[in-house]
Amino acid sequence: MKRRVLLTGGSRGIGKAIYDELIDTYDVVIPKREELDLCDISSIDRYFEDGKSFDILINNAGINIIKDIDSILDEDIQKINNINLVAPLKLTKYCVKGMKANKFGKIVNISSIWGVRSKEKRTLYSGTKFGIIGQTKALARELGEYNILINAVCPGFTATELTMQSLSESEMEAVFGQIPLKRMAEPKEIANCIKFLVGDDNTYITGQTLVVDGGFTA
Ligand SMILES: NC(=O)c1ccc[n+]([C@@H]2O[C@H](COP(=O)([O-])OP(=O)(O)OC[C@H]3O[C@@H](n4cnc5c(N)ncnc54)[C@H](OP(=O)(O)O)[C@@H]3O)[C@@H](O)[C@H]2O)c1
Repeated sequence: MKRRVLLTGGSRGIGKAIYDELIDTYDVVIPKREELDLCDISSIDRYFEDGKSFDILINNAGINIIKDIDSILDEDIQKINNINLVAPLKLTKYCVKGMKANKFGKIVNISSIWGVRSKEKRTLYSGTKFGIIGQTKALARELGEYNILINAVCPGFTATELTMQSLSESEMEAVFGQIPLKRMAEPKEIANCIKFLVGDDNTYITGQTLVVDGGFTA
């Protein structure tokens, strides 16, 4: 039987590339927004009401809100924290139940280069992306005895809608100058790393942060 994967944010961008990489090997579930809205934490409880279980969880969905500290609204704080930090934790909590019973599980949390370093106006985003690395490390320690491996992947600048919204054309040109490989990542290049981490060849990597950024943070 194929292993069951829960993938969030699989509709586009990096998530769509992950879906395309995994679909031949796994039974990949991508909930529609009406089934699972990660901004509304109670919808996660409703989603698992029927006792769904998964072998692999990929917490990919995420948003970015770029604002200086004076402009940040309470609703921004709630929205980004819910989607990027609280929802992955709640999904992990539900998925881990079955994984523990099966003594098998793989979890990948998508963080960001802004989860290992930061820049101005990234207070909200970095708060969540550093946070999810903390969750990853703590859970790797707690869940290792159940053969549940959990890692974080930090994409650098990747050619998706999120990036196009976040950077102006001139900013993008300036950014290329700072990337040793002189280009953005294609979503497939990020997806390949996730495929390895959740696959059968990964039997011993857990609690790690894999930065896939063309050398930007080197
Ligand atoms: N692109 C980059 O350069 C980059 C760099 C570093 C890290 N990342 C991280 O990589 C991940 C994917 O980024 P991306 O660039 O592929 O993003 P994207 O193209 O903007 O896609 C975001 C995905 O998240 C989903 N999503 C947003 N809000 C949601 C909600 N409330 N409930 C459920 N799903 C929701 C979207 O679903 P809908 O289609 O329904 O809106 C979409 O599938 C994110 O965690 C991001 O922070 C991206």
